[in-house]
Amino acid sequence: MKLLVTGGAGFIGSNFILYWLKNHPDDHIINFDKLTYAGNLENLKSVEDNANYSFIQGDISDPEAVTNVMAGIDTVVHFAAESHNDRANMDRLTTVLTNVVGTQVLLDAALENGVQRFHHIGTDEVFGHIGLEETRKFTEKTNYEPRSVYPASKAGADHLVRAYNIAFGLPVTITNCSNNFGPYQFPEKFIPLTITNLLEGRKIPVYGDGLYVRDWLYVEDHCRAIDMVLQKGKIGETYLVGGMTELHPNIEIAKKIIKLLGKDESAIEFVTDRPGHDRKYDVDWTKIKNELGWAPQHSFDEWLEKTVSWYRDNPQWWQRIKSGAYEEYYQKQYEDR
Ligand code: NAD
Ligand code: TYD
Repeated sequence: MKLLVTGGAGFIGSNFILYWLKNHPDDHIINFDKLTYAGNLENLKSVEDNANYSFIQGDISDPEAVTNVMAGIDTVVHFAAESHNDRANMDRLTTVLTNVVGTQVLLDAALENGVQRFHHIGTDEVFGHIGLEETRKFTEKTNYEPRSVYPASKAGADHLVRAYNIAFGLPVTITNCSNNFGPYQFPEKFIPLTITNLLEGRKIPVYGDGLYVRDWLYVEDHCRAIDMVLQKGKIGETYLVGGMTELHPNIEIAKKIIKLLGKDESAIEFVTDRPGHDRKYDVDWTKIKNELGWAPQHSFDEWLEKTVSWYRDNPQWWQRIKSGAYEEYYQKQYEDR
């Protein structure tokens, strides 16, 4: 099989490529990535000489580049996106161009080239949020109610993917997953930001009251879910993917990481809240469990500890990222909070 992976130099995309080449060594992968601030080919150093892997730099919203790279592809796994809420609220045009227009350009090229499967990586954030006191979870039937730019753009992409299936018969599947964590996550996101700030002796910025809850999913569990959907998922279907059942507010996660690194809770700094900050995400993954036999295997506490160790053991990976343009972003994002 020949796969086109978009956004394969990012956090989940690179973990997926490493996972796929290990578990499906005979398949060929083309990684198509623009290499924005979030793309990092260092994540893929261990496979760069693998004859079944190649990289092409390009933008998913560029029809010519996308048409060229789509030739001969059987399966598209579409990760490329502007994926960070705080940046999306600031840089709204780029977010829509990549997440919405880029997805449409890919869908057109996939249709023209007769690909056998277009798998789109969605987010649970399209469903809006759940109150802290509410016990409901998101399911495949939950209405879309995005509340800020990133989830609104991802909702637009999901709708386009479904429309290409219904109107034009493109064979699509979608997974909407919860917050991932693990190695190679860009340190603008909460868990790697917290770990690396502590390692640098900086404060941890906790938004609002810190009582916001995400349904944390270890990245390898997510990759396995995509694998199962690609192998056995029904065309036209959407599957929700979430973590193990315990839910931890951000402040508790910050304290866990502080403890794991032997630091002091005085590092916590409550800062002004994010606009449109969603209170809680909680995903019901019964459908993928019942239909495809998937369940998360990595518990939060154990894999948080392993993730903390990975960042502690790989300072060269994040220290290079955190210099230069990152520092400019950090000042802009956090200076007035
Ligand atoms: P990331 O920001 O780490 O990586 C995104 C990648 O896409 C980067 O390599 C970047 O260079 C590339 N890219 C951006 N714009 C592009 C463009 N116009 N053309 C080509 N490549 C482009 O993101 P991630 O965390 O790995 O997320 C991957 C996907 O998973 C996204 O679609 C995101 O919405 C979705 N998702 C992520 C999470 C999460 O917790 N990280 C949760 C749910 C869904
Ligand atoms: P983030 O990792 O940005 O993912 P998402 O916005 O997709 O959920 O944020 C996870 C949670 O952590 C979210 O509730 C916002 C919060 N957060 C902070 O409190 N401080 C920070 O500096 C960041 C980046 C996030």
